[in-house]
Amino acid sequence: MNNQPDSFHPRATPSYPIKTQQFLQQLGIQHPILLAPMAGTSTPELAAAVSNAGGLGSLGLANASAEAARLAIQQTRALTSKPFNCNFFCHQPPQRDPATEQAWINYMAPFFQALGGEAPGTLKPVNSSLIDNQPVIDMLLQEKPAVVSFHFGIPALDVIKQLQHAGIVLLASATSLAEARIIEAAGIDGIVAQGVEAGGHRGIFNRDIDPAIGTYDLVRLLVTHTHLPIIAAGGLMDGDDIQQVLALGACAAQLGTAFVICKESAADPVYRQRLQDPAYQTTYITASISGRPARGLMSAWHSQVDQPERPALSSYSYIYDLAKQLHALASKQGNYDFAAYWAGSNVARIRNLNATELMHTLIDELHQAKTKQSANS
Ligand SMILES: Cc1cc2nc3c(=O)[nH]c(=O)nc-3n(C[C@H](O)[C@H](O)[C@H](O)COP(=O)(O)O)c2cc1C
Repeated sequence: MNNQPDSFHPRATPSYPIKTQQFLQQLGIQHPILLAPMAGTSTPELAAAVSNAGGLGSLGLANASAEAARLAIQQTRALTSKPFNCNFFCHQPPQRDPATEQAWINYMAPFFQALGGEAPGTLKPVNSSLIDNQPVIDMLLQEKPAVVSFHFGIPALDVIKQLQHAGIVLLASATSLAEARIIEAAGIDGIVAQGVEAGGHRGIFNRDIDPAIGTYDLVRLLVTHTHLPIIAAGGLMDGDDIQQVLALGACAAQLGTAFVICKESAADPVYRQRLQDPAYQTTYITASISGRPARGLMSAWHSQVDQPERPALSSYSYIYDLAKQLHALASKQGNYDFAAYWAGSNVARIRNLNATELMHTLIDELHQAKTKQSANS
């Protein structure tokens, strides 16, 4: 087992606020930095590098079968003996409506035709929900990863109890105080406060209701009105940003976009290039790609698909299947304008470092920002 990679470089541990220290102890980690789980982008290598550097690595397993998720957990364990997080989606199983689905397929058909292809006749879901996925729950109870987190909602209370009884620490995303209260009432251990700046899917429980609260305001709100540890997420790119959310009362910060570019991620070369290209760095939220709102780099989804005549969206994640087929067709012709290149609103501050270097940089910056703040106060 390789617990200390070549680049292992222990950082001085800054003295964190007492509630951060308690939370770090609960997670079994050294620094208040969590890698955002990123389905399709995070890898065992990325998660392990973050955990080995003293943060909490994460695997985004929403699109994995129970066996694929088990394999990813085992691959991560081969690279680190430190704790890491496994993330799953908890959306309500969709009520499918054939007429709405057909209207969407008809609307998208010209985009396929323009590329010499044909729109699919029927759609299938891309991501599963832990809410109706007993094989994944059974696998988690066997594998017992240190941390499991939920997005788009939370599982049933008996599942929450079983996972906690197995010694797993549970986290869930909230985008509003109402969602945070549901999470707290369910006995979950910590809340990821996901601000509207965040890259990727909004964690809203109901896809049609989005309060769009910014990260800093959401942290203040949840720190004041809940008793759980708050992990800030959305638009955080450096140690100064992390220090700011800690100063607002968050126990930790979760960063996604900052890590997408790391060589350990699964991001394709065009994604990496566009993350650094000012022509694409304006980010937008659209629900047209998957059926749920998500923030990503400027693309044809925003400029061409999201027109006033766009029909009502059919169920998440059935239309994601169509989006993936359209991207597959286009990318074979060198056209990457239909890709889902998720990114947060502060992507222009991305730095091209590997995951270990980025962790070390974030920790050093956080340390400096803390020292500067103490000197000024
Ligand atoms: C490429 C990408 C994929 C993501 N996938 C997931 C996911 O599978 N599960 C999840 O809970 N959050 C996911 N998110 C959202 C992150 O958890 C987090 O809220 C976000 O990255 C924070 O904002 P930032 O990207 O500006 O750091 C994803 C974000 C990105 C950028």
